[in-house]
Amino acid sequence: MSVIMVTSRGPYSYEKKNNRIIKQENVGGVATGLKKIIERDRGTWICWGDGNADHLYQDENNGLYRIKRILLNPREKKGFYDDYSNSTLWPLFHYFREKIEHDSIAYGYYRHVNRKFAEVIKDTASSEDVIWVHDYQLSLVPKYLRDMGVKNKLLFTWHIPWVSSEFYTILPEREDIVKSISMCNSITFHTQKYRTNFRHSYERVVGYDKELERRTFTFPLGIDYQSFSHEQIESGKRPFEDKKIIFSIDRLDYTKGLVERVNAIEMFIKKYPEFKEKFVYLMMVTPSRIGVEEYEKLKEKLEMNVGRINGLYGNLNWVPIVYMYRKINSDILKTYYSWGDIALITPMKDGLNLVSMEYVAVSKKGVLILSEFAGISEYLRGAIKTNPNSDDDVSEKIAMAMRMPDSEILRRLRSMKDFLRKHDDRWWANRILGTLVKN
Ligand code: F6P
Repeated sequence: MSVIMVTSRGPYSYEKKNNRIIKQENVGGVATGLKKIIERDRGTWICWGDGNADHLYQDENNGLYRIKRILLNPREKKGFYDDYSNSTLWPLFHYFREKIEHDSIAYGYYRHVNRKFAEVIKDTASSEDVIWVHDYQLSLVPKYLRDMGVKNKLLFTWHIPWVSSEFYTILPEREDIVKSISMCNSITFHTQKYRTNFRHSYERVVGYDKELERRTFTFPLGIDYQSFSHEQIESGKRPFEDKKIIFSIDRLDYTKGLVERVNAIEMFIKKYPEFKEKFVYLMMVTPSRIGVEEYEKLKEKLEMNVGRINGLYGNLNWVPIVYMYRKINSDILKTYYSWGDIALITPMKDGLNLVSMEYVAVSKKGVLILSEFAGISEYLRGAIKTNPNSDDDVSEKIAMAMRMPDSEILRRLRSMKDFLRKHDDRWWANRILGTLVKN
């Protein structure tokens, strides 16, 4: 038996720049999370080939596992990815009512691309392989596989929040999606709430199904804890020696609460003048979903606010927000994690949030301020919880972190590290694959 991983975004892609082909790691949580699992357990990864040189590597064996890439033409990409996945499903499943767009042409492309994935999976899988499909971009793959007569064991992991059944019914395609996912042998979510919401949504749209209860599970995705905590991290020369570093890294996305966060930093400066020049907020933002209008607008708004705050409060010795917008390699990221005295992770809504887990694993003496609306906040008891909708609350929590005595920082960090050590990526994959014994 081997596992066929199926995701929209692959682990890495190939880009042609100045006549050279460069292998580029992908930044998203799902790709990062699954990479280590498949490297250990081998198998095949089926994904979308998004890089401009991916067509040269459509069926690749990289020495550790096989990757099959599905190529999309610009219209397929727009309809499937920009429009239906990221302008309909993404805002819907993060409760951004006003950002949901809908058009049936986009849904047509989404169906078409999901069917394309199913065709490649069918051609690749041998009868005993487990097919493990991930996330909202591929929700119709199970239906197409079953329609094509594929009888393999099917796993589905939903990585983003599942909204309340009432909110879910906004979606015109509500029936197709829950019915398709329910065709899998096991379906997993990151929190109990998302799992319950899914079952209620199914019940509301299709009807009660006792079976479904037995086939849905909650397992939060873990990280490769050992590699983050033990690796020799090249810490370089830490900048801003006389200041505390507040750190964050996010994809540029409105769900991450970026504009709200810089506004909370402004509130912190105003409300707690004693901390002026005593901190620097190192804000890393990585490009994402370029071409989707909401994301372009967000970039402008964020950068205007960062500029405004730095202009208003900065001086010759101090720039409150050091903002960087670029892709970042994983070694540099680990160095940045190690510099952060405080990690400020305040999404408005987030399926889980791997960044906060990685920070905790790397950090030797850091404080995590975490939004109560990130899935992982249900598990990390040692984090300082905050409501990102309130500048007051976030700024208060920053002041609390700045003043926290070392003994308390270490006590909180230990409890979070213990959780992550016990619930790592290996634990997660084994528990999920284990559900197939009965299902
Ligand atoms: O679960 C959220 C998710 O869509 C993942 O599938 C992915 O890892 C991440 O966000 C990045 O998104 P994209 O693939 O659109 O870059």
